Amino acid sequence: MYFQFTEEQEMIRQAARDFAQTELKPGVIERDEHQTFPAEQVKMLGELGFLGMMVSPDYGGAGMDAISYVLVMEELSKIDASTSVVVSVNNSLVCYGLEKYGSEAQKQKYLVPLAKGEKIGAFCLSEPEAGSDATSQRTTAIDMGDHYLLNGVKNWITNGNSASTYLVIAQTDASKRHHGINALIVERGMEGFTVGHKENKLGIRGSDTHSLMFTDVKVPKENRIGEDGFGFKFAMNTLDGGRIGIASQALGIASGAYELAMAYAKERRAFGKTIADLQATQFKLADMATEIEAARLLCLKAAWLKDKGLPYAQASSMAKLYASEVAMRTTVEAVQIHGGYGFVKEYHVERLMRDAKITQIYEGTSEIQRIVISREVLR
Ligand code: CAA
Ligand code: FAD
Repeated sequence: MYFQFTEEQEMIRQAARDFAQTELKPGVIERDEHQTFPAEQVKMLGELGFLGMMVSPDYGGAGMDAISYVLVMEELSKIDASTSVVVSVNNSLVCYGLEKYGSEAQKQKYLVPLAKGEKIGAFCLSEPEAGSDATSQRTTAIDMGDHYLLNGVKNWITNGNSASTYLVIAQTDASKRHHGINALIVERGMEGFTVGHKENKLGIRGSDTHSLMFTDVKVPKENRIGEDGFGFKFAMNTLDGGRIGIASQALGIASGAYELAMAYAKERRAFGKTIADLQATQFKLADMATEIEAARLLCLKAAWLKDKGLPYAQASSMAKLYASEVAMRTTVEAVQIHGGYGFVKEYHVERLMRDAKITQIYEGTSEIQRIVISREVLR
């Protein structure tokens, strides 16, 4: 047991912290207000190597470990969860899936530009009728010999209108149920592929959430990831790592709110002293600090297991379940500590509170994480 980061991990964390302060903080309120996608910031993150963090340098990535990924996600999410979700999806759902399961040709063609941040990816599993119940895919990919004919609708797709490369999960042979599902690489611009309306959201409003429509899209056979019928396992396995990203996002939202609440409590005076002198505030801060530390350890444990090549599905679900609930509790209390000021945009905590909610919903709701965890512990 060794609770210390390496010098390199500390440097990466500091780089992310600096970036968040200098490039994300200015404009974060306006981007939230106007639902503006952080295109410039995402481009800079690509140049820093933060969009293909764990990808091997052989494929244009930064070759960092999952621990560093947790640190970067926490730092970015303290300031701007709308940007950090782009980092999470590109790294752990799209790049990871392609590097682990893609063919050499797929890696050269699609992974390299994604890992370098020259292009952005999207991961398309959810549908209007298939969210938690992910095996109930209605999108079809009919085998036509040299290509698949893709038809259907995907919902809630992060980076929906900003991506160039889409990993789309679809049913090829319904009689085989989830063993008849495939994962296909779909390019922006393929005939019959259209991007639907942008969702007007409670939180992470700067992120780009769209529905996608596929009408007789011809996807070449060579764009299938893995063997025929591997698509559902591909999605589940990829989500195991994705959940480390979202857990770390929740951790960052919580620690960002905690830092703001701490600073405010030390300054705000009431009844002749600062509110930090009141035990009621001190106990709130003590609970926040304890829960955030526990969430951080769960995120780091899941990342450590992944780095060691050990099973991490249960650990990543535990991290996501706990960190997302801590994010919600902490942000609500951070608003409370700010009193009326917490209710207005300039103080940032109301945005963090709105952003926290999605971490309990996407990449598997809290109820789904409990299903995954209980199946593992009862096994
Ligand atoms: N790794 C590999 N394979 C796995 C797996 C994992 N972690 N979990 C399940 N599987 C396999 C199972 O082994 C099984 O295959 P076999 O029959 O060959 O054994 C197959 O998948 C089906 O598994 P289940 O029988 O457990 O399926 P289920 O219908 O009971 O559902 C579930 C399982 C965990 C609930 C799953 O449907 C699920 O995770 N749902 C949530 C979906 C989700 O997280 N969506 C996120 C979309 S992406 C997103 O949200 C991105 C973003 O916001 C930014
Ligand atoms: P449902 O599955 O309909 O769930 C409704 C409620 O029922 C939830 O509380 C759920 O926990 C509960 N429930 C369902 N089944 C069970 C059960 N068996 N036991 C107990 N409770 C249950 N998806 C993608 O594929 N790619 C993306 O990039 C992406 N980005 C997203 C971004 C945003 C902003 C949002 C809002 C969603 C995004 N999603 C994405 C979709 C997201 O993963 C789903 O919304 C989520 O998995 C839940 O599915 P659902 O919305 O259909 O809810």
